[in-house]
Amino acid sequence: MYENLFKSIEIKSNTAANHFVAQAMEGNDGAYGGSPSERTINRYRQLARGRWGIVVVEAISILDSSLARINGMILNEKNLDGFKRLVETFKTENPLGIIFFQLTHSGERSGGFSDITTLTPNTQGCRYLSSDELEQIKDAFIKSALLAEAAGADGIDFKMCHGYLGGEILRPRNTRPDKWGGSFENRTRLLRETVSEIQDRLKSKRFILGSRLSLYEGIRGGCGVAGADELIEDLSEMFEVIRLMDTLGMDYVNVSAGIPALTGAITRPTEPSKHLALHHLRYTQSVKQMLQQENLHLRVIGSAYSAYKENAPEIMEEMLVKGYTDFCGFGRQTFADPLTPQKLRAGEKINWCLLCSGCTKLMVSQRNDGCIVYNDYYKAIIKQAT
Ligand SMILES: Cc1cc2nc3c(=O)[nH]c(=O)nc-3n(C[C@H](O)[C@H](O)[C@H](O)COP(=O)(O)O)c2cc1C
Ligand code: SF4
Repeated sequence: MYENLFKSIEIKSNTAANHFVAQAMEGNDGAYGGSPSERTINRYRQLARGRWGIVVVEAISILDSSLARINGMILNEKNLDGFKRLVETFKTENPLGIIFFQLTHSGERSGGFSDITTLTPNTQGCRYLSSDELEQIKDAFIKSALLAEAAGADGIDFKMCHGYLGGEILRPRNTRPDKWGGSFENRTRLLRETVSEIQDRLKSKRFILGSRLSLYEGIRGGCGVAGADELIEDLSEMFEVIRLMDTLGMDYVNVSAGIPALTGAITRPTEPSKHLALHHLRYTQSVKQMLQQENLHLRVIGSAYSAYKENAPEIMEEMLVKGYTDFCGFGRQTFADPLTPQKLRAGEKINWCLLCSGCTKLMVSQRNDGCIVYNDYYKAIIKQAT
């Protein structure tokens, strides 16, 4: 049963043991200063035990000033040893596991721990980022990617999704008059220049580069529409972004959608909105089809598989057999049961995510967050909070 899920698959010159991806999931439990805490490291130890083919470490800020969560992590020299320890712990537990760091600047979604910055002039409550500051942000992405390699990670996920700065800059609504806005070329400058420089400076030829995109953000002028004043989905430009990623020699695209703070049901469907997850299957399939038709090599990771609960393995198998994706990504299920792939393989009982939004509630209230249904630590926190 499910024989395709557990087949190995190549990504760059690395081999993932299976097609399961533990998507980036912020736990908001870093130590003071943004290093991984014991709790953080333990979470990744558990995922290593769960035998996910790829584990993406949650959004890690490239700067002190770009954090979205009060206990979020920051990838800088000062914290390098902590990240080395996280990777060592993971690899000791699962030497075949692949681990990526997701790198982010929170942009307008930063949690207000310093000034909230924006790309768009006259946005209330936000300071307009200058052209020079964007140059510095590019440099910080490059520096963090090289630190990820130094920490022993197998790759990075350049976060260009979910309304954070990487996504904001791609949008048709980014009509900045300088070199970072307006034309497609300008809006993809951060992606192009960052990736090219990282590639020039990486030590290992095996280091994997990819990006998570919100194919359709669901806002006027957002990613996945045809212009700054459009609201209706039109994926043509996002397909151009994916073609560009391929041309740049990147290795995978992680297909997501929505902006959790604005159109959250699209990103992470809850019980009443669970059918929105079907759009994720369509996005993934259409990206994979385009790549195949054009003979492009990027691997494709799909999102929002937690929404299918115990039917997820069957849907995953179908997506793989039909060639509609390369990997299937789970977010909340990694909180509900970090051992899911290993248990599925062994025929053991799995704690399926109930899509109750408890972990999201904890996260947005800036507490340590995790599963409030199956984990006593988070159960107690949500009780105190309500
Ligand atoms: C508590 C929480 C934290 C999340 N943190 C991140 C993150 O750090 N980076 C990211 O790209 N997505 C993040 N997401 C989105 C998930 O990775 C995933 O895309 C979403 O939950 C939908 O997938 P699922 O249905 O399998 O949960 C988060 C979602 C939740 C609920
Ligand atoms: S708290 Fe609810 S939504 Fe979050 S992982 Fe647990 S069951 Fe799923």
